[in-house]
Amino acid sequence: MRTRILTLFSMLCLVVRAVGADAGYKQVLITTDTNAIHVRLPLTDVAGKVRVKKKSPGGFGLPVAPTKTRLGKAEYLEWQIGYDLPDTNSPSVVAHIQFTRKGETKYGHELSKIIFEAVRLGLLSTNELIREVKTLPHIKPADFEENQPVQIEMDTNKTPGGFQRAVQRVPQFTKITPYGWVQIQLKQKQRAVGFQAMVYVCLPMDKVLTMDGTPRPPGKAKPKETVYYDFTRENAAFLLDIIHAFGLASQQHNEDIRQILEKILEATR
Ligand code: ADE
Repeated sequence: MRTRILTLFSMLCLVVRAVGADAGYKQVLITTDTNAIHVRLPLTDVAGKVRVKKKSPGGFGLPVAPTKTRLGKAEYLEWQIGYDLPDTNSPSVVAHIQFTRKGETKYGHELSKIIFEAVRLGLLSTNELIREVKTLPHIKPADFEENQPVQIEMDTNKTPGGFQRAVQRVPQFTKITPYGWVQIQLKQKQRAVGFQAMVYVCLPMDKVLTMDGTPRPPGKAKPKETVYYDFTRENAAFLLDIIHAFGLASQQHNEDIRQILEKILEATR
């Protein structure tokens, strides 16, 4: 009986460790050294916030199986970058960047941490953030991408068999830079009617690095492989484009990002 309980316990420990290791590899990690911010991203978390896609016309992208596809110039990472969390249970949180949304406390996460570190390292100047803080309130409601119309076209004639054809046209907004692109996609709300704006940072596979900081050679992803993307003085303006994308996405994102920039400016003064 005792050996059976011990065996069961050790099996449970193995499962807990395996799950823990898996969660660890999926985590987007942000580390800083003297002149760069390194972002570690998972390559094979196909259902997570970082997905590998193949470029396609209009920038819509097609999901690929990363361990079965040679990842080269034609592929990119689509990262649903976060900027807040309701708690501090993540290594990518900046606990002292706090703001409130609808009365709830939020902590800066991922993008907030990257901007905070970028100001600390001098990759972004406080003046650049101040300029953005002043610009954000002037974006008009009609200009928020979330308020852009989704069109439905209905064919008047029925197809053979009595089926009626309808087409839904959903706009997407892309800002292309030499370092990657940022996209605002309208996605059907999960538990409500209507569309919500989602912001994605898209990083071409030929711009990502291995652990030693050298470009990742083209090839299939190894199971649980991670790659790095660096923010440096050279591509710091890309960060301003990402910030601005949130400002354009919706009223709520605009207000959140403005609060975050103000808190970062206070904390780095
Ligand atoms: N809220 C936090 N991160 C977001 C993202 N990438 N897109 C939409 N909403 C978000």
